[in-house]
Amino acid sequence: MFCEFICKALIIKMIKKINVMLIGFMGVGKTSVSRELSKKLDMPEIDMDKIIVDRENKSINDIFTENGEEYFRKIETECLIDIQKSKGYIVSCGGGVVVKDENINHMKDGGVILLLTATPETVYNRVKDDDSRPILKGNKNVEFIEQLMNKRKDRYLAVADIIISTDDKTISEIVDEITDKLEEFAKK
Ligand code: S3P
Repeated sequence: MFCEFICKALIIKMIKKINVMLIGFMGVGKTSVSRELSKKLDMPEIDMDKIIVDRENKSINDIFTENGEEYFRKIETECLIDIQKSKGYIVSCGGGVVVKDENINHMKDGGVILLLTATPETVYNRVKDDDSRPILKGNKNVEFIEQLMNKRKDRYLAVADIIISTDDKTISEIVDEITDKLEEFAKK
C-alpha cells in the first residue's frame, strides 16, 4: 500500500515534467475532462481556444468570419509552439489541431498525447445546443459530424499515445481511466 502510494507520487512527478495534450473531435469533452484532470493531478490547465480568443480579442466564430479558417489555423500553430516552451500543463487542444502535419510535431514535442473519442451521435447530443463552433454552423447533424470525424480519424489515431472512449461515462470515470493509463505510460 505504502509502495503503491510512493509509486503513484513518482509517476505524477514524471508526468509533471511534460505536457498532457488532450486531443479529439469537437464535443468529446476535452474542456470538462481537462478541468477535472487538472484538479486530480494538481497540474494547471491551458485551453488553446481560450488563449486564441484572448490573444485575438474576439470569439472563434468572429475569427473565422472576419479572418478565415486559414488565419485561425496559423494562430493555432503559433499558440501550440508557445505552449510547448513550458511543461507541466494539461493542454486542451482545439478539435482541428491535427489537420496540420506541422502541429503533430509540436504536440509530440515534450508531451503525452491523450485522445478522447465519442460516437457521432454522442458528439451531436453534446454540441447541438451550442453555437460557438464555426465548423458546425449549418452542419449540425450526425451525418456531417460522422463525415468530418472519419476524415480526421486516422490523424487522431496516428498521433495518440493513449486513447480513451468517453461514451456513456461520467467525467470522473474518464479522469480515473486517464490517470491509470498515464501511470502505465510513465512506467514504460
Ligand atoms: C475546431 C474545434 C474547436 C475550435 C474551432 C475549430 C475544429 O475546438 O478550435 O472551432 O476544427 O474541430 P473544440 O474541439 O474545443 O470545440
